[in-house]
Amino acid sequence: MLRASEHSDRPTPGSAYCPPAPKPQARPLKPLALIRTLKRNPLECWAVAHFEQPIVSGGLPIGHVLLVHEPGAIRRVLLDNAANYRKDRLQRRVLSAGLNDGLLSAEGEQWRVQRRVLAPMFARRRVMDFAPAMTAAAETLIDRWSSLDERATIDVAAEMARVTLDVVERTIFSDGFGSDAEDIRMAMATYFNTIGKISPLDILGVPDFVPRLGRLRVRSTLKFFEAEVDRVIAARRRILAEQPDRAPNDLLTHLLEALDTSGGDGLTEAEVRSNILTFIAAGHETTANTLSWAVFLLSQSREWCERVETEVDRELTEPASAGIADHLVQTRAVIEETIRLYPPISAISRVALGDDALNGEAVRPGSLIVISPYVLHRHRLLWDHPDAFDPGRFLGSVASAVDRFAYLPFGAGPRKCIGSTFALQEATLVLAAIVKHFNLQLRPGHAVWPSLRVTLRPASGLPMLIRKRSRHQRSSNPDQQERACRGLANS
Ligand code: HEM
Repeated sequence: MLRASEHSDRPTPGSAYCPPAPKPQARPLKPLALIRTLKRNPLECWAVAHFEQPIVSGGLPIGHVLLVHEPGAIRRVLLDNAANYRKDRLQRRVLSAGLNDGLLSAEGEQWRVQRRVLAPMFARRRVMDFAPAMTAAAETLIDRWSSLDERATIDVAAEMARVTLDVVERTIFSDGFGSDAEDIRMAMATYFNTIGKISPLDILGVPDFVPRLGRLRVRSTLKFFEAEVDRVIAARRRILAEQPDRAPNDLLTHLLEALDTSGGDGLTEAEVRSNILTFIAAGHETTANTLSWAVFLLSQSREWCERVETEVDRELTEPASAGIADHLVQTRAVIEETIRLYPPISAISRVALGDDALNGEAVRPGSLIVISPYVLHRHRLLWDHPDAFDPGRFLGSVASAVDRFAYLPFGAGPRKCIGSTFALQEATLVLAAIVKHFNLQLRPGHAVWPSLRVTLRPASGLPMLIRKRSRHQRSSNPDQQERACRGLANS
């Protein structure tokens, strides 16, 4: 197979920046060390063999486990023989704690009905209609930063959580959460921090009725979300009943229209509520982390900072058109490379229902298949310079050399992320707006480290100094732009 950078018309980025990542363990960890490390930071569990071999078996003390990082075998699990594999208990418990009726965790007929009803809401044309709402959220962020002191320090991770929650609010409930968005943001942070801690009881397969301490906190946070969502739904129902022409064209209206009123083929009331929570939970933190890492990576690469600046100065004009994200090809390549190096969802797992074989390895009923996009995206057999930051891999003809099943930030097959187009557009537009107006530099002395807590985030935040780009820098003079980047790149 052609590796992702083995392309004749492209220089090899031998000196490209390699961002922080744990050094793989020399050998797979023994069970006790594995459990301890999984609890601390699952990203630090991976061993050299995982990055070098297509399939590694064993590891967890819960039966037969296959760690699969070979595109053909992945295709078989997620697409060709997907009916033989279902989401496993651990993934469902960790990724969708409490959101039992939502698309993320539903199975069988319930999942099929939901996917059919919800898919049109995330189709490309619908998502393009959300571009103005996404741009408006980015402008609110720019206004807030513009009012700060020159060279203020901000926590980019918290700021990105704020802007992606604003996008959720503007696209799901465009007339507002009805409560303080800050309360929702704090509750969301508690929720993710708590569900993100994998309990050793989960790894050991201890049944659900055995209480986990953190779970109690998740339950009370979920109650808070549910009450908020119920309030917003009731208000929207009144509008739809009394003045349907004035109902906003957002996801909530579409979801309520999909409500099953005839006992037929729609969503139930509980499913509508669960899916609103699922969209908030699945869509907000993942995109926030993507943006945080992208801002960080750009601050470390003079070349890519300059390329994105040149592009946004040329393309981002006002008012922004719905299709603007399609013109931001360099910016989008930075986002795609960001989620190669730091995929927000770093493990996809399935349990086998029946016998199968993957790359010659036997699969038995009950075998656990773990695919880590993090390992896959840095696999030595699949990528050249796998640890280097090189968005050029996703540009032009080079991009077509990337095997579809070697790059899985959004998964693949029938259970592929329903929000991938939404997320890519949002991240591209927000990053473009930030780069157009500001240069960001990591606070000197701050060590950045990836930590896996459901999503892959910078441990201890991302404090960065912001400086406004002057109108002068924004003129399309490449020399000035390069000087601006050079002054700020923390290399
Ligand atoms: C950068 C942002 C995002 C990333 C990296 C991401 C990643 C993923 C991945 C890897 C899966 C597949 C999991 C599996 O197969 O086990 C998934 C599923 C899903 N994602 Fe996303 N996601 C992102 C943004 C979003 C957004 C914005 C939404 C909704 C607004 C969303 C909603 C969902 C839902 C509902 C599913 C379950 C789909 C199904 O099972 O049919 N995601 N996501």
